[in-house]
Amino acid sequence: MNPADATTARRPASSVLPAQHRPAGVRIAGSGSHLPEGRLTNADFVKFLDTSDEWIVQRTGIRERRMCDADKGENARWMGGNALRKALADARLDASELDMLIFGTVTGETLCPATACRVAAEVGAVGAGAFDLAAACSGFVYGLNLGHELIRSGAYRRVGVVGCDHMSSIIDYSDRGVAILFGDGAGAVVLTPTDDLSKGILAQSMHADGSGWHDLYLPHHIRDFPAGQPGTPEKVHKLQMNGREVFKFAVRTFGDLIEQTLTKAGLQADQVDHYVCHQSNARILEASRERFGLPAERLHVNIDHYGNTSAGSVPLVFDELRRAGRIRDGDIVLFVAFGGGLTWASSLWRV
Ligand code: ACO
Repeated sequence: MNPADATTARRPASSVLPAQHRPAGVRIAGSGSHLPEGRLTNADFVKFLDTSDEWIVQRTGIRERRMCDADKGENARWMGGNALRKALADARLDASELDMLIFGTVTGETLCPATACRVAAEVGAVGAGAFDLAAACSGFVYGLNLGHELIRSGAYRRVGVVGCDHMSSIIDYSDRGVAILFGDGAGAVVLTPTDDLSKGILAQSMHADGSGWHDLYLPHHIRDFPAGQPGTPEKVHKLQMNGREVFKFAVRTFGDLIEQTLTKAGLQADQVDHYVCHQSNARILEASRERFGLPAERLHVNIDHYGNTSAGSVPLVFDELRRAGRIRDGDIVLFVAFGGGLTWASSLWRV
């Protein structure tokens, strides 16, 4: 038997809809998240870095982050797979019903195979399409936009979108300007079609500016360092960041992205029920909140206990809100993220 036939044989023929049955509405049918038990507090950093709880809290808003125990097999595949299982359970779907898995990460164990392929196999989504999406912290929002369009086009019915990063695997814990910011975590959603045409994306955007790549990058070789900034073997495979430049880019981009997305949808800032933003730094979030005059309960901040979990941060916030019963049917939710690339993206939903 041809291997392609074997794979196709595992999928129900109905997984691709005939054109006349194309749904126009898309719903977020379930969400889930997963965090490792291990914690790294500001007090822990003070033991081995020249830093203080006061400096970290004032500059970033972070008090603690979660950290995988790699020796116990905790990694992006483990966190992302568990988050997806919970999202499937929440959506009351069996993994075998998934048609596609989009896995936003820059910290998978291998480039080939994609982490998505192994996660799909491990959760039981055998034969579903599966790929990794490398847009750093914007990975989940890019994935959400793509997953939505796959369903809206009628080509796919049930799409899992995971945002997940094992940041502790790429952090140099002697670099105090970077180490204190990041934590490990994963979140996931399952998207399905609905006859309710009012549900789904109202406006979205995805952007990149590769000319700013050297402000946030992960070198794999000495030759990957930018001209004029010679690398060292210790810095290879460790996240390199120009914090000041990223901060300026983020404050400007975040506000503009929100404004442009609202304009596209013809909405005012106060018509959005929830701003689910990438948790990069509490000061960056606060700048956006002030610019749009939003009450604190609409722009959610959980960076204090998770740090910046890169692609994991947006779905972690969303799942926290959903589990707390704060996302109601018909709410308007704006997802926004920015990250390495440089990339930035938004996704404005009626859920
Ligand atoms: N503890 C104490 N002092 C520190 C620490 C620390 N952990 N880190 C840096 N400093 C020192 C610096 O060495 C510097 O000292 P100097 O003035 O003697 O040179 C001083 O503090 C100020 O440093 P800055 O880098 O200017 O501090 P800043 O106020 O910009 O805060 C921070 C640094 C928190 C990294 C900030 O720039 C930031 O949040 N940037 C955005 C980072 C970000 O969002 N990254 C991820 C985005 S994308 C993604 O999520 C993958």
